[in-house]
Amino acid sequence: MTATPCDLLVHSTSAVLTMAGGPPGPLAGKRQGETAPVAGGAVACAGGKVLEVGPGDALRRKYAPRRELDARGGCVIPGLVDAHTHLVFAGDRAEEFERRCLGASYREIAAGGGGILSSVRAFRAATDAAILEKARGLRHSALLHGTTTVEVKSGYGLSLEQELRALQIAARLDDRGDVVPTFLGAHAVPPEYAGRAGEYARLVAETMVPEVARRGLARFCDVFCEAGYFDAAQSRLVLEAARAAGLGLRLHADELSACGGAELAAELRCASADHLLEATDAGIRALAASGVVAVLLPATSFFLGMGKFAPARRMIEAGVPIALATDCNPGSSMTENLQQAIAVGCIGLRLSAAEAMVAATRNAACSLGLGGEVGSLAPGMRADLVVLDAPDPRDLAYHHGVNHAAAVVHHGDIVGEEE
Ligand code: NIG
Ligand code: FE
Repeated sequence: MTATPCDLLVHSTSAVLTMAGGPPGPLAGKRQGETAPVAGGAVACAGGKVLEVGPGDALRRKYAPRRELDARGGCVIPGLVDAHTHLVFAGDRAEEFERRCLGASYREIAAGGGGILSSVRAFRAATDAAILEKARGLRHSALLHGTTTVEVKSGYGLSLEQELRALQIAARLDDRGDVVPTFLGAHAVPPEYAGRAGEYARLVAETMVPEVARRGLARFCDVFCEAGYFDAAQSRLVLEAARAAGLGLRLHADELSACGGAELAAELRCASADHLLEATDAGIRALAASGVVAVLLPATSFFLGMGKFAPARRMIEAGVPIALATDCNPGSSMTENLQQAIAVGCIGLRLSAAEAMVAATRNAACSLGLGGEVGSLAPGMRADLVVLDAPDPRDLAYHHGVNHAAAVVHHGDIVGEEE
């Protein structure tokens, strides 16, 4: 029998956690931790896609790979999917970080003109080249930590011209269809509209959303629904305009206060509701009933020293599918390392490593509408995977604060060794 040619065979693993199978879509409730492992498995790839996942011995007999990747007994997982970042920004907020460490709150700093608005000033003053260089650096670093697909929000421009610029820069980050752009024009009320949030929300809904959609610059629209930013009615106005313009919907909901965000996300059947620290029981029930993915951001709780995390266990019990993301941004979560969010998520959200890994792969991909392309390892899926440096996948959370990616495969190429 002649062997079947393939481009790459990843072998000698402790296990391949495929995250595949079960009901279509995100995994929820008791299934949240179903990693669907193939013990001692191998992955054959061709044309940037997965050809087959199966027992190592059988696949080594069956395939004649052009290239081999020896996992040296490490565990293999799908490439991580970061479903919530703000990585197109300028400058930094290290000074603000230090003030917070010494006792100031995120809200106090924002009320004094810092916070998001200080990043808006920096963004408007920076050149495209400087912003792009910073974003490319973060994107590349995320990739080295195993993040193969990343959602990127605008939201530090806050005018039509500046928001289009942010999305155009996000588009330049992407050369292979693995950056998902989200329009977040309603991230804060810009200084020109101080005290007139309603008027600015109308500008976003009536002028900015249609223009962003017409130019094909975003796949999703998001709003920061929060006291002092946009209330539920203003958020609804923007999201309904976005839906009419053909964009998918996401929502920063109930992060600092319960403001009806989860309920609104459920009613509008958003693809995701994000943060959710203050979500009410009614909000959680509504999310479960409408199939919205809860994108939880434990690195933000940690970075802001909130001493509090989203009620993830209650969500899992209610049947809400959980995803994890970094929230990478200069103010509330300055990390592009999704492994860190997994570790902090296990500790703070009280997740098992398996639940956290499903959250950062399959469920995150589903929240981006990409569940059929990335986030699990099965024939036809994109050949995105991470070889961990440990046989036990729990090391990802347990041995925290280090990069466990021994190798990253992206579109079938070994990162750092592309031909
Ligand atoms: O997701 N909550 C709103 N937006 C960001 C914070 C952005 C910033 O502080 O610059 C977040 O945490
Ligand atoms: Fe955010």
